[in-house]
Amino acid sequence: MSVTDLLHRPLRDLRVSVTDRCNLRCQYCMPGDRTYSFLPRHALLSFEEIHRVVVLAAECGVKKIRLTGGEPLLRKNIAHLISLIRAVERIEDLALTTNGMFFMPLADALKRAGLDRVTFSLDSLDPERLKRITLNQTSAKEVLTAIEKANELGFAPVKVNMVVQRGVNDDEICKMARVMRDLGAELRFIEYMDVGTVNGWDAKEVVTIQEILAELGKRFSFEPLPTSHGVARRFKYSNGGTFGVIASVSEPFCGGCSRLRLSSDGQLFTCLFGTKGHDLKSMLRSGCDDAEIIQAMNRWWGHRADRYSELRAQEQKQPDRVEMFRIGG
Ligand code: GTP
Ligand code: 5AD
Ligand code: SF4
Ligand code: SF4
Repeated sequence: MSVTDLLHRPLRDLRVSVTDRCNLRCQYCMPGDRTYSFLPRHALLSFEEIHRVVVLAAECGVKKIRLTGGEPLLRKNIAHLISLIRAVERIEDLALTTNGMFFMPLADALKRAGLDRVTFSLDSLDPERLKRITLNQTSAKEVLTAIEKANELGFAPVKVNMVVQRGVNDDEICKMARVMRDLGAELRFIEYMDVGTVNGWDAKEVVTIQEILAELGKRFSFEPLPTSHGVARRFKYSNGGTFGVIASVSEPFCGGCSRLRLSSDGQLFTCLFGTKGHDLKSMLRSGCDDAEIIQAMNRWWGHRADRYSELRAQEQKQPDRVEMFRIGG
């Protein structure tokens, strides 16, 4: 059965955060000026629990799964979870978002387990700058090698997320575009968002889609591709390759939002900017049967009216918004 929410949007995607831990400290997500307390193991959903949620979510209309974190490749034996989800008949697309640092040794196992697609996060090609952004000895070279490997293995189309911040990496827009196009990856420029509570977001740091396209227009010729229901506005270079812009601040796309999010501690969120999730974990652990859980998911989705990005300007900032590393990018 497939329900729609109060704004007539169907449920199609489930994004699953498998851990709240990350080896990096990207300033826009987990700034390094504070300490984080991570969930103890028993608070995380087990693979069996996640698998059950996927099976039941598929009954409610979900067709796409994205595994996220924190950094999902930090979760031990993630390939096993992938093989469990792969076996769920109604799931047509299984993707993962990673910072790429642990990708190489796991790549073949991820492929064998049935992962369809990989998205990498990379904000700069400059070693010193990347170190400043991620507070880690992140190596862009390593990520570029991982992107090549992902391409070879057919995780197509390989996508790369670049969060563009004014005065931080906006001078690399064209360089990143060229490098990613040459690698055969689809680069997506992301407007910096006010997600969570810790990143000290300032609207002045947002580089808008108009500015990004103007910058690219100095070096490349390109044309828009027909819009699909995804989050990105996509474009095609005239001499081959594609790129996208995720303009959730200046051109919100809540109208087509079919995404449900499962946090690493088993709470279901109907919006990235949510404060309190629906407590699915308690239901899973208190012996509820499948029908009860399906009913609850349909009810939660049916009551959904979220459209935070469209209301950003008039919305009161909630002090307890969930952090992105808890519900995934
Ligand atoms: P596929 O279509 O599965 O390839 O992925 P996608 O195009 O949905 O993109 P992805 O899931 O990789 O998301 C990319 C980025 O877009 C995220 O890291 C977020 O920054 C942003 N994003 C994704 N979903 C949402 C959403 O529902 N709301 C907002 N405001 N931003 C989102
Ligand atoms: N703004 C935009 N995107 C963000 N991400 C994390 N924090 C933010 C933010 N504040 C996204 C990045 C990264 C993914 C894991 O999460 O796209 O690639
Ligand atoms: Fe880690 Fe991704 Fe957050 Fe960076 S954006 S700190 S890689 S979870
Ligand atoms: Fe969906 Fe909320 Fe993002 Fe809008 S702000 S697109 S409703 S997750």
